[in-house]
Amino acid sequence: MKVALGVCGGIAAYKACEIVRLLQEHGIRVQVVMTAAAQEFIRPLTFAALSGEKVIAGLWGPAGEPANLDSAIEHIAVAQSIDALLVAPCTADTLAKFAHGQADDFLSTLYLATPAPVVIAPTMNVQMWQHEATQSNLDILRKRGVQVVEPGSGYLACGMVGAGRMAEPEQIVATILAKLGIVRDLAVETVLITAGPTREPVDPVRFLGNRSSGKMGYALAEAAQRRGARVVLVSGPVALEAPAGVELVRVETAEQMRSAVVSRAAEASIIIAAAAVADFRVRKAAEQKIKRNGAISLELEPTADILQELSENRRPEQVLVGFAAETEDAVENGRAKLKRKNLDAIVINDVSRPDIGFDSDRNEVTIITADEKIEVPEDSKSKIAQRILDAALTLKTKTGRLAPAK
Ligand code: CTP
Repeated sequence: MKVALGVCGGIAAYKACEIVRLLQEHGIRVQVVMTAAAQEFIRPLTFAALSGEKVIAGLWGPAGEPANLDSAIEHIAVAQSIDALLVAPCTADTLAKFAHGQADDFLSTLYLATPAPVVIAPTMNVQMWQHEATQSNLDILRKRGVQVVEPGSGYLACGMVGAGRMAEPEQIVATILAKLGIVRDLAVETVLITAGPTREPVDPVRFLGNRSSGKMGYALAEAAQRRGARVVLVSGPVALEAPAGVELVRVETAEQMRSAVVSRAAEASIIIAAAAVADFRVRKAAEQKIKRNGAISLELEPTADILQELSENRRPEQVLVGFAAETEDAVENGRAKLKRKNLDAIVINDVSRPDIGFDSDRNEVTIITADEKIEVPEDSKSKIAQRILDAALTLKTKTGRLAPAK
């Protein structure tokens, strides 16, 4: 998710730094857009360093030079790419521009161009705030659906006391999270997720692997993190970037995954085993590269079943969710696995279908618990991830496996 953060010229501009940090903690990318006045209070470099993104500081560059933009129509590109526009602090001037459709700088142009929801956190002197002009501009914006995070009362930078102080960053961020539909119902949970394939060495250059891309596990990690959980992601080799804020433990073999998972399991209140762990490894991998001298045979031995081990040693409040990649009799086989491994839920996907599953961004699964069968129709892996987390949370409540209060 991406939020454009408009920063206007006010003393509270420094509080926007905290807003950037809080948004990032929720895995949200922040594109900072500064008005000219804002740059009198704080340098664009500060926001560039904090957000890790180029800061947009105007429509135009110095006379005769291009602006610091990727394209001449960047206001349209940014407008289309954001999930919300947040303006904090929002001055009386920008508020008036928004209300009357004036578009003479990047921020006011962006406001007109974006279909995304808009949240503003005004701040100004108490007289300016109470002025009829400001209040009627606010009315116009509210009627248009703009959400206003009301300023608080207190000592203002101008020396006066009254309404006009910008709301606290936590409150502003909570408003934008609600606007984006981000719920924090996993805030007390620690979720341990395994993802991706494992690689079992054959010789120093070859390995036995599988087609897992890790996309389902990474989507679960991102979704859990956004819902407020602390997330530990134990991942086999994949070509994916770990979602921001997630603790990533990289492993290669099934045995490395087992030891990483077992050593972190006690911290977790929900464990989701989405990894496609190798069931077999070569009993004795060759120390030197095997030469091509006719047929060879590899002696394979079973790997340890990580999920089984977790299930045997689990704490009473832990919810354990497994995956079953099946090519035939999916539901039947999944149900048998649920019982055999003593899990709370199993997510079954039919990997024989070429359009979903391995390496696809989409999936279609059936979630089975002791007394429920939830068919989740084809959707993006991030939506499927939400449904799996919903099921895990329901199980926590139903089974009484509630996390101890932190
Ligand atoms: N799993 C595991 N350790 C293994 C193998 C699998 O923890 N060594 C986990 C997977 O992460 C998944 C679940 O077990 O959550 C099911 O994996 P799967 O390979 O489909 O099932 P198996 O138990 O190996 O049964 P089978 O291969 O016979 O279908």
